[in-house]
Amino acid sequence: MAQDKPDPCSFIIFGVTGDLTHRLVIPALYNLAAGGLLPDKFCVVGVARKGITSEVLRRDLMTGLRKFATRPVDDAIAEQLLSCVTAIEADPKDPASFDTMRERLDALEQARGTGGNRLFYLATPPDAFLPITRELGRTGMLKENGMWRRLVVEKPFGTDLASARALNKALLELLTEHQIYRIDHYLGKETVQNILVLRFANGMFEPIWNRNHIDHVQITVDERLGVGHRGSFYDTTGALRDMVPNHLFQLLSLVAMEPPVKFDAQSVRSVKAEVLSAIQTQSEREALHNSVRGQYVAGKVGDAEIGDYRSIAQVQPNSTTETYAALKLTIDNWRWAGVPFYLRTGKALCTKRTEIAIKFKHAPFAMFRDTPVHQLSQNYMIISTEPTEGIELQFNTKVPGPTINIDGVEMKFRYKDYFKVEPSTGYETLIHDCMIGDNILFQRADSVEAGWQAVQPFIDAWRNAGADGLHTYAAGSEGPAKADELLARDGRSWRKLG
Ligand code: BG6
Repeated sequence: MAQDKPDPCSFIIFGVTGDLTHRLVIPALYNLAAGGLLPDKFCVVGVARKGITSEVLRRDLMTGLRKFATRPVDDAIAEQLLSCVTAIEADPKDPASFDTMRERLDALEQARGTGGNRLFYLATPPDAFLPITRELGRTGMLKENGMWRRLVVEKPFGTDLASARALNKALLELLTEHQIYRIDHYLGKETVQNILVLRFANGMFEPIWNRNHIDHVQITVDERLGVGHRGSFYDTTGALRDMVPNHLFQLLSLVAMEPPVKFDAQSVRSVKAEVLSAIQTQSEREALHNSVRGQYVAGKVGDAEIGDYRSIAQVQPNSTTETYAALKLTIDNWRWAGVPFYLRTGKALCTKRTEIAIKFKHAPFAMFRDTPVHQLSQNYMIISTEPTEGIELQFNTKVPGPTINIDGVEMKFRYKDYFKVEPSTGYETLIHDCMIGDNILFQRADSVEAGWQAVQPFIDAWRNAGADGLHTYAAGSEGPAKADELLARDGRSWRKLG
């Protein structure tokens, strides 16, 4: 995290009574406060639709902080942070409330000396993004006249290509691109940011980072948790929309992008958008051939019994929403021609694992007596954020002894072995970046649209296929058996995760 102290500003949270604010935003602000990384002049404004007093809000946020803080709460720091909190009532259905909000904000900022810089954080359901932003625009609260005004938009950013385009268009009528911070919490993870450093701060990897040496790439984001109480959101979303165009594509773009000419937002975001737009757009037929979708049925994850997905409250009893998705994608450029990218993600699986596994090609020539080349395992590099953050290399080694025997071994780097890392929510870097105006880790409009463009054929093909081709898998398993065929037909297999 950069050590710059942000400019004085107001941090205005819409959806202040919601889960995201309690679970992540306030604990992240607390960690920033503890690290001395909040502005000296600062205020937090919690916007709620229904009347809530500042005192009640502060108490509520303190309770949330005690529950979700990632480190022991120092009362003095917490109280100082929460003393900056003011509740304001505003509802886009009542435009006058935004006029009042504007007046109250002006007065508050005068009193606090925050100079008019504002970060509006939309921690609301997505259907509120636009109505709120329109009201902020109408009341002039987004105008930058010597001070900055920024908008943080959470995921999901659209539900398909058309809606993402429409949302971008509507937002860009109200603000300019540099004011918009489309957040993806995967970019707050250390290992994810480290992919850039691994590739471009070392001389030894980039020369082999291409189709001449890499056989294929596997990106896995598997979760043990089921859908839980999120039935209503999840049943209209599914694993593909929930995870692929955002989180999995962030991982893919960092692994696959070309070297940027500079480490600045413009250069990095351009090469990311470029590689996402090079993902081959498949026909619906190809999409069906190159994908597997699954839905979990009752099973045991560890010791926990999990019921059928379809039995969750607010999930349709005959739902065909996928809780597991596996895709084969290709990237149409010189670096990656012929190198498949296999992606998989799912809920209620046997393990929580987030990793990128890069499999290298076989050694070109088998010179070892009695060790045919097909018995030598291929080298793997595994970049993982779950269950541990780190990087692992798998390679072949001679087994000690008088004869040549070869076996695969592992070399592991784990963050926690080398660095003392304070436990964090993953939002600290992102929030701090918003405050200092660094949008390198945020998605630009073209990247978001390129991501949706690549998944749209799968969305269409699956919707049209309905229940056909939806495979069930038992909660606690590795996912539908059919997913193995996706790689087996290419003579490959998924890394075993259980
Ligand atoms: C969220 C999804 O964006 O990411 C959730 O909506 C998912 O369904 C979560 O569980 C996964 O995040 P992480 O950091 O636990 O891998």
